[in-house]
Amino acid sequence: MNKIEALKNERQNIIKEYSNKKIPDTYLDKLSKSINNIQYVKIKEIIEETKDTKSFILTPDEEKSTYKLEPFKAGQYISLKMFIDDAYVTRAYSLSSSPKKSLNEYRITIKRVENGLVSNIMLDEVKVGDGLTISKPIGGFGYNKIRDEKNVIAIAGGSGITPFMSMAYAIYDGIDDYNLTIIYSVRTEADIIFKKEIETLNKKCKKVNILVTLTREEKEGYLTGHITKSMIEPYIKEFNTIFMCGPKEIYKTMNEILAEFNIPKKSVHFENFSIEYTPNMIETYDLKVILKNDFIITKCKSDETLLVSMEKAGIKAPSMCRVGTCGYCRSILLDGKIKMVGSSLKKAEAENDYFHPCVAYPESDIVIRLDI
Ligand code: FES
Repeated sequence: MNKIEALKNERQNIIKEYSNKKIPDTYLDKLSKSINNIQYVKIKEIIEETKDTKSFILTPDEEKSTYKLEPFKAGQYISLKMFIDDAYVTRAYSLSSSPKKSLNEYRITIKRVENGLVSNIMLDEVKVGDGLTISKPIGGFGYNKIRDEKNVIAIAGGSGITPFMSMAYAIYDGIDDYNLTIIYSVRTEADIIFKKEIETLNKKCKKVNILVTLTREEKEGYLTGHITKSMIEPYIKEFNTIFMCGPKEIYKTMNEILAEFNIPKKSVHFENFSIEYTPNMIETYDLKVILKNDFIITKCKSDETLLVSMEKAGIKAPSMCRVGTCGYCRSILLDGKIKMVGSSLKKAEAENDYFHPCVAYPESDIVIRLDI
């Protein structure tokens, strides 16, 4: 047997060895498949919101056969898909426009992230007329008239204002009907995203009240300092629903404040597009990814999620939210030890070795089964 044939046999044996685990098609898989369709869009306009934030107006790219965009619900997000340096990457961005315009136009608003791969490309390189590939709208964040109370308080920090703008427009445009108070924390007046739109909504829409608090300066017309109990207290009614979106620190402080108001956990919803985890030691391990008809051997690092390692190896691993909530990246762990950081995996799924690579950090050599 020559060398090539021996290698071929070795590949076939590895695929066979790891391919006999049956993955049943679950409700989640069907849901994932139904949202799998991508949309092609073109950038119609780029708006400079602040020194480090831009909005992108996206319209259907008819040259690529996207004639209409999928309707969305205020609070939902899209996953932007890019191919950068031989790697497939995705990033989730909330839609910040009114759902009323959704068939013809989306708006996403992106803030620069230090060393951020996609955000920096979007802010520095992308221009009007460029094409982008995005997912259909996804996510359950946003007002639900069956679940939520009529008095809604939204707590936003920095670019966390984006889904709430869409929610405010949905009220203004008559799509949703409830009272929305947004308390929006930013460092300085110059950091306020959608400044003019906030002023217009406050003037024109009785059911929307947006208060801005500046944490690093005092200015007339704004609250001062981080969000406190006394800032929220005037807007608390007998029954309330709370939404939160922003940096991690906001969730911690707010949970303490909300506990003082006795607001039940089921009435508090939050959106988060980042996870944080620092291992004690940074180690490099072998990562073997078994695909439907092939396998790839690469490396993974203990301070990077397995999704990132697969993307770096050029594997088109599916992903949407990247924070363990949508279930889209669900795969099977065939071998190895992982650290999962926040995941919506059900107990039965975990017992059957399913896991979410987007929130899984390796703690040994890893073998994954990915059905692509
Ligand atoms: S990408 Fe959503 S759970 Fe992993």
